[in-house]
Amino acid sequence: MSTVFWNGRLVPLDQVRVSVLDRGFLYGDGVFETVRVVGGRPFLWTQHMRRWRAGAEFLGIEPPMTEEALTTAVGQLVRANGIQDGVLRLTLSRGPGPRGYSPRGAGPPTLVMTLDPLPGQTGPTVQWRVRTSKLRIPGPDPLCRFKTCNRLLQILARAEAEATGGNEAMLVACDGHVIEGSSSNVFWVRSGTLYSPGPEQGALPGITRAWVMAWARAWNWPVVEASAPVEEVWEAEGVFLTLSTWGIVEVTHWDDRPLQSWPGLTALRRAYQEALQAAAHAG
Ligand code: PDD
Repeated sequence: MSTVFWNGRLVPLDQVRVSVLDRGFLYGDGVFETVRVVGGRPFLWTQHMRRWRAGAEFLGIEPPMTEEALTTAVGQLVRANGIQDGVLRLTLSRGPGPRGYSPRGAGPPTLVMTLDPLPGQTGPTVQWRVRTSKLRIPGPDPLCRFKTCNRLLQILARAEAEATGGNEAMLVACDGHVIEGSSSNVFWVRSGTLYSPGPEQGALPGITRAWVMAWARAWNWPVVEASAPVEEVWEAEGVFLTLSTWGIVEVTHWDDRPLQSWPGLTALRRAYQEALQAAAHAG
C-alpha cells in the first residue's frame, strides 16, 4: 500500500481521513500540482511551487507549510514509497467548512501529497491520437491561470475522447479556436514558427510549455502565443502536446486525420530527456 503525506505526516493510504465537509470534496475548492519526479527529485519544482502558490493566493487559501518543508516532505515521500521515477500530486483544499458556498469560517486547509509510478513508457517516442471535444471553453476565465481542483470540463472532455479511442481531448473556444488539451498544452508549427495558446487565450500556463518556449527561444526558434481555428492547426507541419506526466507528446492523428510529423521535434524531445536526466543527477 502506498504511503501518503497528509497534513504534515506520512501515513498509509488507508489511514488518511478527509472530512465529508471538506470543500475540496464538496466544491473542488482547492489547487493542485502534478509534478514529474525523476531520480527521486521533483522536476521543475520551483516553477510548480510558484504556480501553486499563485493559485492558493488567488483563492485566498494560506498554505499550511513552507516551500522548504514541502521539499523535505517530497524526499520523505519518495523514500517511503521507493519510487524514484514517478508522478507527485500535491493537493491543497480550503478544508472543512460550514454549509454553503461562502468560504467564511472554513479551515484549516487540507494538504495531501501522493506519489505514483509513471503512467506508462514516457520516453521520447510517445505518440497520441486526439479528438476535438464537443464541449466548448465558454470564454475568458481568470481561473484558467491556476490548477484548481475544479476540472469538470476536462473530465467530461477526456471521457468523450477515450470513448472513441482518443488518448487526449482537444478543447476549443466558442469561436472554434484551439485552446489546449484536457490535461496538456498544445503547440503547432507553421513556416518554422511555434504557436501555442497561453493564458491570454484561455489555456493553463503549463510548466512543460514554459520549458519548451524557453528552449525554443534559446535556439532562435520563433514562438508565438496565439490560437487558431482547428482546421488551420490540421494543416500545420507538426503538432505536439506538453504536460508534466508525459513530457512532450507527438500528435499523429486529430479526429482521425493523419498530421504531418515535424522533424524539429526529435531535437526538442531529446533536449527535454537530457534536462530530465540532468535534474535526476543534480546536486
Ligand atoms: N495536467 N492544461 C491543463 C488543463 C492541464 O491540466 C495540464 C496539466 C496542462 C499541462 O501543464 P504542465 O506542463 O504544468 O503539466 C495543461 C496534469 C499533468 C494533470 O493532468 O495532472
